[in-house]
Amino acid sequence: MAKAAPTDTRGRHLRDLRISVTDRCNLRCSYCMPADVFGPDYRFLPRAEILTYEELARLARIFAGLGVVKLRITGGEPLLRRDLPQLIAQLRAVPGIEDIALTTNGLLLPAMARELKAAGLNRVTISLDSLSDATFGRMNGKGVGVAPVLKAVDVAMQTGFAPVKINMVVQRGVNDTEIEAMAERWRGTGVIARFIEYMDVGTTNGWRMTDVTPAREIVARIHARWPLVNADPNYPGEVAGRWRYADGQGEIGVISSVTNTFCGDCTRARLSARGELFTCLFAAAGHDLRALVRNGQDDAAIADAIAALWQARDDRYSELRAANAAPVPKAEMSYLGG
Ligand code: GTP
Ligand code: 5AD
Ligand code: SF4
Ligand code: SF4
Repeated sequence: MAKAAPTDTRGRHLRDLRISVTDRCNLRCSYCMPADVFGPDYRFLPRAEILTYEELARLARIFAGLGVVKLRITGGEPLLRRDLPQLIAQLRAVPGIEDIALTTNGLLLPAMARELKAAGLNRVTISLDSLSDATFGRMNGKGVGVAPVLKAVDVAMQTGFAPVKINMVVQRGVNDTEIEAMAERWRGTGVIARFIEYMDVGTTNGWRMTDVTPAREIVARIHARWPLVNADPNYPGEVAGRWRYADGQGEIGVISSVTNTFCGDCTRARLSARGELFTCLFAAAGHDLRALVRNGQDDAAIADAIAALWQARDDRYSELRAANAAPVPKAEMSYLGG
């Protein structure tokens, strides 16, 4: 029998589940997996440690029973996980799931787009921090140019993943002079460019407040070139603030997780590749669901355990960021899936 959907200590429901399917990536973005930390000797999770597709689908079913309607597949780079379309097909079969999206760097997308679509993937969001080969190559730590990512965007559009979104992490002094160029590139194409304030996720990226270009400045700069009007969220608790071009040439998104936080209606849970439940992007540790799955607990017992964890949830890291005098321990984003 379906249980009542749990709410946390701040009255927030559980609506979205972000699933990290691997901690590996084929890029080394300096703000996420800096190459000097994630080098040749870095020990990624061995296969036996990560949840199988059957285990993931089972957990997704249990989460759906607790109110989850949206799934987002992340990594690391999720397309590095073998046979990902098989997971999508299993997730598609979960009753109650309305939307399945994927966040990817796009490099492997052209080869897999049709299969992913056929398996039931609804949307893709592609990370692209610059349109200049030099800047992008530096930021992604591998010298990879923009052409393969632009190709991925094209393929995503042709495959019918709509709307396709682009994520640009804006770092002051690194790519912030390219905000207008990024907006211009996607204006009128149907692609939604999203500008993300650089966040202090994990402990390896050396984040400083002075590295952040505030959302209000991003909006003001684009508005000065192409007037914008604010648009309502697509759903309560949407992460990106929406702005439409006044001349009808589409919309942009701005993610102000540092200067205008959105913890108040955060309905997101995260599952690490190893099967830990994180109730906040900035949590130091997760709760081991894999142990429950592998120790023979039945679905009802696992659902009760998840509901209890959610009911105890008090997270609002971004709201407290300014008040945190000392750095707090946090999991890495490549591990947690962003
Ligand atoms: P849709 O609204 O479904 O399109 O997805 P999304 O914008 O939630 O997903 P995406 O993976 O594209 O995330 C965009 C950016 O927002 C990334 O930098 C995420 O790390 C960040 N983000 C997503 N959820 C949260 C959150 O709960 N808290 C914070 N602080 N940042 C988040
Ligand atoms: N700050 C903001 N966004 C980040 N991402 C990765 N690391 C950071 C960070 N430190 C973005 C990626 C991807 C999304 C899941 O999160 O670029 O698009
Ligand atoms: Fe890989 Fe995405 Fe992290 Fe870049 S931001 S290192 S593409 S997981
Ligand atoms: Fe949710 Fe934590 Fe992000 Fe706040 S900081 S919006 S609680 S994930």
